[in-house]
Amino acid sequence: MTTFWSWYVTALTVGTLIALFWLIFATRKSEVHKSPTDKTMGHAFDGIEEYDNPLPKWWFMLFIGTLIFSVGYLVLYPGLGNWKGVLPGYEDGWTQDKQWEREMDVANELYGPIFAKYAAMPLEEVVKDERALKMGGRMFATYCSVCHGSDAKGSYGFPNLTDTSWRWGGSSAEIKASILNGRHGMMPPQGEIIGEDGVRNVAAYVLTELAGRKLPEGTEADVSKGKEVFGTVCFACHGADGKGMAALGAPDLTSPAAFIYGSSFAQIQQTVRHGRMGQMPAQEQYLGNDKVHLLAAYVMSLSKQATAEE
Ligand code: HEC
Ligand code: HEC
Repeated sequence: MTTFWSWYVTALTVGTLIALFWLIFATRKSEVHKSPTDKTMGHAFDGIEEYDNPLPKWWFMLFIGTLIFSVGYLVLYPGLGNWKGVLPGYEDGWTQDKQWEREMDVANELYGPIFAKYAAMPLEEVVKDERALKMGGRMFATYCSVCHGSDAKGSYGFPNLTDTSWRWGGSSAEIKASILNGRHGMMPPQGEIIGEDGVRNVAAYVLTELAGRKLPEGTEADVSKGKEVFGTVCFACHGADGKGMAALGAPDLTSPAAFIYGSSFAQIQQTVRHGRMGQMPAQEQYLGNDKVHLLAAYVMSLSKQATAEE
């Protein structure tokens, strides 16, 4: 901030404060009344008269309190132009970012060695460590549950992480890579390439032959033509048997329970017609390798539980 603007802001802020101090004291006392017995202002509207009462004391004290607070705040924190404040530990000026970074530094110093210890262990070992899974679970609740749900079972557009069906592969390395580097699913729109009949037929093929479900009653679709479309277009990513390809994030079309965009006939047609673009944000820069390692172990443990329960 240039000196001019710094003084401008300072003068405006201090001036306003002084004006408020004056205002609150100037209005404290009632105006002189017409007579000591008449406490009204002399205004009357349709017979309603206006009293002249001072502010209640507690209300007045509350105002004074906020004014004193603001003075203290402006001394400690940077609020007046280029004034940096005198808050201990923030001689170069307090900011939210700095406070957050300090708190993270303290936390990293405290917990960093624990994370590092687990990061040096293979994931297959970390999965067996109850304390590690607890830590992973807490981080999952903080960083992942917004999308994948607090029970990690996902929802529309977000995959279930507790089942055994993986879009990008279920090995420990693949799961960790999914979290560390993020994933971008790219199912290109097919509507203009295969036409409306093609969409209906191939969706019918996926629903009946691959997913093993029934078509809605009264549906007119040619499943064998759909199979042909699948063999010329879809197999490139989803595989000839429809079981998907982890390298592309193309899901297994034979397990409809794991579809994230719905498994109804209408929803599958919608997916084929317009394509889909699911994005899992990369966590490496944000959380770092050590925390992601624990998260990967936690995610692996969820899927294991699911298999055990089945
Ligand atoms: C270029 C590769 C590619 C081609 C070609 C392709 N797909 Fe996909 N498909 C994907 C990917 C990747 C996804 C996952 C998209 C996502 O996660 O957002 C997907 C998702 C889907 C889904 C949704 C599954 C779910 O979880 O809800 C269906 C259904 C589907 N594809 C069917 C087809 C059919 C039918 C065709 C042929 C007409 C086809 N795909 C062609 C790559 C492809
Ligand atoms: C902004 C929403 C969002 C957040 C936050 C998020 N994810 Fe995801 N995640 C997704 C989406 C969407 C996909 C599916 C991508 C696709 O379409 O292929 C996904 C996919 C995954 C996969 C791969 C699943 C598979 O079937 O292969 C894993 C593992 C995963 N996420 C774990 C996590 C973890 C752990 C966190 C917390 C650090 C997290 N995610 C945070 C949206 C999110």
